Amino acid sequence: MTAHNRRRFIKQAGAGMGLAAAASFVPTRFAIGQKAKIKLGLMLPYSGTYAALGHNITDAMKMRINEGGGKLGGREIEYVQLDDESAPPKGKDNASRLLVRDKCDILVGTVHSGVALAMAQVAKEENKFLVIPNAGAVDLTRKNCSAKLFRTSFSNWQPAFPCGDVALKDGHKTAVIMTWKYPAGFESAQGFKDSFTKGGGKIIKEILPDFPSVEFQAGLTEIAALKPDCVYVFFAGAGALKFMKDYDAAGLKARIQLYGPGFLTDGVYKQAGSAAEGIKTTLHYADDIDTPINKKFRAAFKDQTKRDADVYAVQGYDTGTFLLQGLAAVQGDVGADKALIKAWEGIKIDSPRGTFTLSKSHEPIQDIYLRQVYSGDEKLLGIAHKALADPGTGCTMA
Ligand code: BEZ
Repeated sequence: MTAHNRRRFIKQAGAGMGLAAAASFVPTRFAIGQKAKIKLGLMLPYSGTYAALGHNITDAMKMRINEGGGKLGGREIEYVQLDDESAPPKGKDNASRLLVRDKCDILVGTVHSGVALAMAQVAKEENKFLVIPNAGAVDLTRKNCSAKLFRTSFSNWQPAFPCGDVALKDGHKTAVIMTWKYPAGFESAQGFKDSFTKGGGKIIKEILPDFPSVEFQAGLTEIAALKPDCVYVFFAGAGALKFMKDYDAAGLKARIQLYGPGFLTDGVYKQAGSAAEGIKTTLHYADDIDTPINKKFRAAFKDQTKRDADVYAVQGYDTGTFLLQGLAAVQGDVGADKALIKAWEGIKIDSPRGTFTLSKSHEPIQDIYLRQVYSGDEKLLGIAHKALADPGTGCTMA
């Protein structure tokens, strides 16, 4: 055999062997999936008024995944993090960057409702899973709900709705609402109004500063002049801290009871000091829920981050559980859409907030707690509404 013929023979034999091998090896998505890392796109605020919220979600989610062995369905994870700056106009481009350019398998985010609405559009166009660890925009689990969109947090209506009843029970008949002018503010206000006005309460004014403005003075002057029985506000993060301080400094805290969803105080009431004393809030979490899982979670989060856990950390932690359980059910195969959706729809999450399941519109059904800050701590007063589900109006899972 000449050298030329030998090379030809080796080439042909090699090609033949390749074909034989290919014929006997039927790659499954599972086998392929096992080799590659799962790419998790984390689109969250790491700057601006919601920066602390984004950091707590991220750190607690990673902490939970590490507790579960650091892998999802047997696959290692590559985290791709992007600061969304809580800027809705950049939402679509940022989501595309993660899903199209970086080819993330699953998108996780975000905090700000306006940004989340943009992310949901892109995720749907790209036919990718979106897991929302905070943003409460109601449309995401109502008319814009979709099979591959899941929320592990709340709808903006959920923690707000029980608050109206709390204010009525406290004997208040008139309220002023003050919230940032964007979907989360409007929807939170609506939740409060739904129960407060149904029970005979009257909203005498709604004051709407732009997001994320912390120029509250004009609104506070108006509240002082209107003299309502109580005030309901939606603010969160650094803006909430500034609001509590301004409300106190204006002399209003001592005269007019302040209410809100727990985003007003969570993560910031300690920094607010005496300005937070007496504020009553309703939320799907309370620091002092007396369960082993909550105590263990708070201790571990403090140990790892040197920060106190709050509702955002809880939501991040539960998102970690959500990913661990779902991906375990499909052995890491993110392409197994039907099986993954089925696993997530049937999920039961043992959370620091209490055990919860998801509604048909992919939204937690959960207890809403009543809390009040006194003597420098936020105390759990009781359950304001047991197993509350968002109405999910208009959700058809198209
Ligand atoms: C929202 O935009 O949906 C939101 C932001 C911070 C806390 C709660 C809700």
